[in-house]
Amino acid sequence: ATAVALEAPAAVEAPTAPQLPREATILFGSQTGNSQRLAGRLADKLKGQGFEVTLSAMNQYKTNKLKEVPYLFIVASTHGEGDPPDNALTFHEFMHSKRAPKLEGTKFSVLALGDTSYEFFCKTGQDFDVKLAELGAQRIVDRVDCDVDFEDAAAGWLAAVEGAVSAASASAAPAASGAATAAAPAAAGESEYTRANPFMAEVLDSLNLNGRGSDRETRHLELSLEGSGLTYAPGDAVGVYPQNDPALVDEIIAELKWNAEEAVVTGKSGETSPLRSALLHHYEITVLTKPLLEKAVAFTGNSRLAELVNNKEELKAYMNGRDLLDLLRDFAPWTLKAADIANLLRKLPPRLYSIASSVEAHPEEVHLTIRKVEYEAHGRDRKGVCSVYTSERLQPGDKLPIFIQQNPNFKPPVNPDTPVIMVGPGTGVAPFRAFLEEREESGAQGQTWLFYGDRHFVTDFLYQTDWQRMLKDGVLTKLDVAFSRDSKEKVYVQNRMLESGAQLYQWLENGAHVYVCGDEKHMAHDVHKALLSIIEQHGGKSADEAAAYVSALQEQGRYQRDVY
Ligand code: 2AM
Repeated sequence: ATAVALEAPAAVEAPTAPQLPREATILFGSQTGNSQRLAGRLADKLKGQGFEVTLSAMNQYKTNKLKEVPYLFIVASTHGEGDPPDNALTFHEFMHSKRAPKLEGTKFSVLALGDTSYEFFCKTGQDFDVKLAELGAQRIVDRVDCDVDFEDAAAGWLAAVEGAVSAASASAAPAASGAATAAAPAAAGESEYTRANPFMAEVLDSLNLNGRGSDRETRHLELSLEGSGLTYAPGDAVGVYPQNDPALVDEIIAELKWNAEEAVVTGKSGETSPLRSALLHHYEITVLTKPLLEKAVAFTGNSRLAELVNNKEELKAYMNGRDLLDLLRDFAPWTLKAADIANLLRKLPPRLYSIASSVEAHPEEVHLTIRKVEYEAHGRDRKGVCSVYTSERLQPGDKLPIFIQQNPNFKPPVNPDTPVIMVGPGTGVAPFRAFLEEREESGAQGQTWLFYGDRHFVTDFLYQTDWQRMLKDGVLTKLDVAFSRDSKEKVYVQNRMLESGAQLYQWLENGAHVYVCGDEKHMAHDVHKALLSIIEQHGGKSADEAAAYVSALQEQGRYQRDVY
């Protein structure tokens, strides 16, 4: 290795190997903000090593710069059926088109975020990783694929990249680099409470927003942030650490005749809890993943599990809608010991909920809107972990472990005069209560238009009195509602958008921002189609032109989605 001259960062004399300039480009594709935060951490580390760093969302990045990039780092998450996040879409398409440049002079590495309970785990990151190599770039650190519990794997990748760049461009780092890297976390005024160290928030109030006779139950939770130092902006989310269903935990313990009091490992440094408490608080028991089933093979005397694991289609079908108890019942006999669960199960991940309040309107409080998920599958009743916990077992006065997840990709316009169009059926309306409450406090003057939908007007009109007040005080200019089960023909928010297409297009032409929150698979997809068709019809555009119009909106941050 080349010697490192600590005092002389700039002057590199006759290097034995060609040195790359200490310039790094870090591109992220992020939906909920995790990839963006990790990309920011890499940027801090590399700056600490004396690098000049370009840090950018993929869709904000000028791709003609790509050719000259010595170091390229990609942090990208994957959604739904292998989809890139919204702010990665155009870049992903560009890189897979004929326009993508040769990158022979570039060194790169990719960090991928995803969820092993989905078939196309980390696909977006994998796509970039494969593509960059194909374009001739040189991989300096292997891609790391992170599961929902991403912190440790991501930290490993960050450290590996840091090590690799200091080895590869062995010109000196400034002497202060160590200190700069170490000092990166916790900017002044930031709370000590984080995803890794959640705040125990007291439940101030818990109301069912649905009227009597509704077939749904939606909790409005008011939590206290007093003493936490936590704050948030409209569009941010709260991460909640839930508890598993005690009945399900007991059935699992009974199924394998385990001892509920046996101490099992729950933490990295060997902390332990009694088995029952570990299954209630620490481990995921309601979702099956491929890695879990692969590992489980070693603990069953039933050979059918090994066969299942080797059959991709059957495996996918089996995992869908089943949980740990199904697995234990379906593939007995087991040699699995309680002590094995630490190696077998994923950690119980926090659930993210879009914040429904403005902290300006409710100082030291945060409000959440949580719909209870219950259904039947494979002959058993299934319960959403967090929604059932918060609606059935959490009482006012109890404490709930939470953290704030900033979402830089779902932010109201900076200019208070910019018109805003909000589409949020069901619990998707939550962040728009935050947006509008904030505008009530700040006195923003721009026009606002809310599309809301749910099943029935009488029982399911979430926050109806808030919208009425806001219409009256003028902070809400226009409200269109679609109650899907009050009429013979179903009406959805996108039908209302189409009905007012001419006006909606006019708002877009006047610079409006469009926000969509809620169900990704059906609603957000259909709303997107409606938006395209409105632009085609009322803007006199072809399908391609309309698509380009929407991409431009996206690139300008004028079309933002918080979908799940
Ligand atoms: P439905 O259940 O009657 O079909 C909130 O859940 C609301 O979203 C409900 O009124 C629901 O209607 C509706 N919804 C269901 N699918 C939708 C879709 N593809 N687009 C828009 N709204 C939808």
